[in-house]
Amino acid sequence: MDLRGKKILLTGAVGGLGWDSALEFVRAGGRVFALDINLDKGKLLEQQAADSGAGSLVYVNQDLGDQDGLLRTLQSIVQREGEIEILVNNAAIYPSKRFEEYSMDEYRMVQQINVEAAVICCQVLLPGMKQCGYGRIINVSSVTFYGVLPNLYPYVASKASLIGLTRAWAREFGAFGITVNAICPGAIPTEAEKIHPDPEAYTRSVLEHQALKRRGHPRDIAAALLYFASAASSFVTGQVLNVDGGWMMH
Ligand SMILES: NC(=O)c1ccc[n+]([C@@H]2O[C@H](COP(=O)([O-])OP(=O)(O)OC[C@H]3O[C@@H](n4cnc5c(N)ncnc54)[C@H](O)[C@@H]3O)[C@@H](O)[C@H]2O)c1
Repeated sequence: MDLRGKKILLTGAVGGLGWDSALEFVRAGGRVFALDINLDKGKLLEQQAADSGAGSLVYVNQDLGDQDGLLRTLQSIVQREGEIEILVNNAAIYPSKRFEEYSMDEYRMVQQINVEAAVICCQVLLPGMKQCGYGRIINVSSVTFYGVLPNLYPYVASKASLIGLTRAWAREFGAFGITVNAICPGAIPTEAEKIHPDPEAYTRSVLEHQALKRRGHPRDIAAALLYFASAASSFVTGQVLNVDGGWMMH
């Protein structure tokens, strides 16, 4: 799939799933603005991207919790580089504990990073997408949206919000040639998985749930994001794609 001439904003770019996706976008010829909060990893990603092919990658160090800063950073990128046609809202935090142990501040923090930052990114990039009559917005939700794991309620609520936003935005932006879709990754082994206390038991249970009897790989997620980011998905909008080895089937 070809992303030559396209600019992409990818949040959570140095994370377990973001990393491979960022490199896949570069290999497809895109110019990637890879946003995260880890400067060292960001520099490493820039180096890998420089060796990996057709497109280019610029690391953007920005805390998504600093909403004014985020707005300023995005505005300055757009001013400098022109419109960004593809937005992938991928960053997330995922604290895990029992419902009673969360404070409202913790709940709000999860919504701020996982949902409100996505809204701000959309607000800044939408005018450019409308202007060129082309846009792709992809929200990264989660298999946990379907109620498969306990002790994650702020995270699950945030992932549900992203699916709501996907449908609301798809309906509203369709007339401008902008598609909006979501993916729900299943259990892909990354840092995020360390929230589970017994990794082997967790792997066994994941494989029991999946129709496919192998663990997922960040490449599986990158392939789905690339599809939604490319012209190949131009007649698909408002959809949620489960990329989970056949765990959920609806
Ligand atoms: N890995 C899985 O199995 C899995 C399953 C379902 C859904 N997901 C979703 O996929 C996406 C990527 O997950 P991952 O596994 O790569 O997780 P990860 O923790 O490896 O990556 C998340 C990235 O977001 C960044 N981030 C967090 N807070 C930030 C902030 N305030 N400002 C800027 N960046 C910030 C982190 O630095 C990190 O690089 C997330 O939305 C996650 O919910 C992952």
